[in-house]
This record gives sequence, C-alpha cells and structure tokens, in this order.
Amino acid sequence: MQGCTVSQHPVVAEALTRMRDADTDAATFRRELGRLAAVLFAEATAGLTTDDDERMTPLEPFVGSRLRGPIALVPILRAGLGMVEAALALLPDASVLHVGLARDEQTLEPETYYDRLPESAEHRLAFVLDPMLATGGSAIAAIDLVKRAGIDDIRFVGIVGAPEGVAALSTAHPDVAIHLAALDERLNDVGYILPGLGDAGDRIFGTL
Ligand code: PRP
Ligand code: URA
Repeated sequence: MQGCTVSQHPVVAEALTRMRDADTDAATFRRELGRLAAVLFAEATAGLTTDDDERMTPLEPFVGSRLRGPIALVPILRAGLGMVEAALALLPDASVLHVGLARDEQTLEPETYYDRLPESAEHRLAFVLDPMLATGGSAIAAIDLVKRAGIDDIRFVGIVGAPEGVAALSTAHPDVAIHLAALDERLNDVGYILPGLGDAGDRIFGTL
C-alpha cells in the first residue's frame, strides 16, 4: 500500500510470531516487542537528515554528523508506551510527548483523556508510536493533535496494521509515512485485527 512500509527483517518476523502466540506471557511479550521495535526504528530512521558536526579526534579535526532535530516521540497511551524504550535507545535526545486515547468499545471512536503536546512545539519531526493500527481512528486523532501543535514532519511507527486502518490513515494524512512490522488480513466485527495479537495494551501490561 502506498506510503506504507512493511518490514521484511527476519528478527521482526520471529519476534512478531512470539507476540501473536496466545500462550506468550506479558514479560515475554514486552521483551519481544522491544526486540522488534529496535529493528523497526532502525528502519524507520534510516532516511533521517543529518547536519555536519565539526569535532576533534585525539589527532586532528574531522567533520562528523548530527541528527537534525529536535525530534519528538509521541506514544499513544497505553500500548504505545511499550515502544518508547526502543525508540529512545536509538534517539536518546528525543522528547517524549504523551497522548492518551481510548477507543470506545461500541463506536470504536477514540476519546482523548490525556494530551501533553505543547501549544506550539519546537520539534521539527515526530514519530507517533502505537502497536495497533486497526480502524485508524486513534492514529488519525493523535496525528491531528501533533499537527495542531505545529509539527509537520510526522511518521507513524506501528507493529500490526489492518488494511482498513492503513487506508484510513493514508487518506486522512497522506503526508505521513507508515512503518509496520506486518499488514494483516482484516478487522473482525468488533474492530480487532485478524489474525492480530489481541489487545496490545492488555498483553503489554498483563491486564487480560
Ligand atoms: C488500542 C491500540 C490503539 C487503538 C487502535 O488502544 O493501542 O491505540 O486501540 O485502534 P483504532 O485504530 O481502531 O483506533 P486502546 O484504545 O484499546 O487503548 P489501550 O492502549 O489503553 O489498551
Ligand atoms: N486494539 C488492539 O489492541 N488490538 C486490536 O486488534 C485492535 C485494536
């Protein structure tokens, strides 16, 4: 699907297999999520812009590189929190701006319960993090908030996407690149991704 990159990395494939398995406990689920997210972020950051950084080795001056920032990570609570550590390992200077959204189980519409985005953000780039892209409503709402804060270079990093969610997000925000570990088959009639991995927040935090 246009604007959507699905990882082909074997480590991602193995980690996701363990995450999908209904017998995987929360500790193992978190570990495999971290392992998978490390690869996904390496791929999602491969094209970032750098500026020259003039420094000295012990022997002579050299011109190195510095990532052009400031960069923000925007995890969508709760489940997006499970991806923050892996993202910060790669982007240690990034700020973390939290957004809390909960899907109404009947309407599947996201409700905002927490918004720590500044009115006018200094960041030039934001990675919005959420393992699940189901109807796309939560990702679209979070990206609306990030754009309202004044950040216009935005990338979405997720684990499992449904075709319906990718289509909705690409239509609402065609400028936002989408990075996923897998593009699954479809949504079921209560808005869960099939085959999916169940409720990501519950599996990360052991609240099944
Ligand atoms: C889940 C998931 C996404 C959203 C995806 O969160 O983490 O945020 O659903 O669904 P959508 O694409 O149809 O909006 P949920 O609202 O269950 O909250 P949680 O992370 O606190 O469990
Ligand atoms: N949220 C989840 O956590 N899982 C799904 O399959 C859909 C929405």
